[in-house]
Amino acid sequence: MSDHFSATEFLGKSCKVDFITSVFKSSQLPSPEYPEIAFAGRSNVGKSSLINKLVNRRNLVKVSSRPGKTQSLNFFLAEESLYLVDLPGYGFAKVPRKIKNDWQGLITSYLEKRQSLCCVVVIVDLRHEAKTQDRELVGWLQMNGLPLLMVYTKADKLSRNQRNKQAAALDAGLGVAREERVVFSAKTGEGMADLLSSLDRYLDIP
Ligand code: GTP
Ligand code: MG
Repeated sequence: MSDHFSATEFLGKSCKVDFITSVFKSSQLPSPEYPEIAFAGRSNVGKSSLINKLVNRRNLVKVSSRPGKTQSLNFFLAEESLYLVDLPGYGFAKVPRKIKNDWQGLITSYLEKRQSLCCVVVIVDLRHEAKTQDRELVGWLQMNGLPLLMVYTKADKLSRNQRNKQAAALDAGLGVAREERVVFSAKTGEGMADLLSSLDRYLDIP
């Protein structure tokens, strides 16, 4: 056993990973026996693609053609030591209000109460400006003192110049510091080293 838990040891390359469960209500949450990273963001932003890239699988987590399909918290266990949790995407207008409120309750209480939660990765599209719901989530996480890491994804769709400009605009729009965010592409894997070392800061558990 090493002294420190390091995600870098197995994330970003092929590692053992198992689907554990889909959670639709709090009572279904698996026991918090491993450190946990949750992935949040608007529908279709690339949450599942990022998780697949992290564990080097093409289609472990289903990448959706129809946005807003995932309505549960999906738990994946990497190397029998770290939970990766794919959260339902927000901001999809076609979801009925009743369902929307139910998810919001589930996700809010999960984020507030989950003791093993080490980091909430909030993913936004580098090409777009900060949306109200992104700002609300980020503000809420900051207000509650929850560990937040921003990932600005789909960087492959922009030139290097545009990336820097957009990233700075998102920093300002969301109120996050440069050290709290990573520019990433699930398509090319760009930003992976940055993402892993950032995650390690949150997972620095003896
Ligand atoms: P929901 O589960 O519906 O909320 O979506 P999601 O956030 O999990 O997004 P998903 O990973 O399913 O990706 C949505 C679409 O964006 C897919 O067509 C992906 O191929 C594409 N995509 C995701 N990440 C990237 C990226 O870094 N670059 C490019 N070019 N496309 C991406
Ligand atoms: Mg998804």
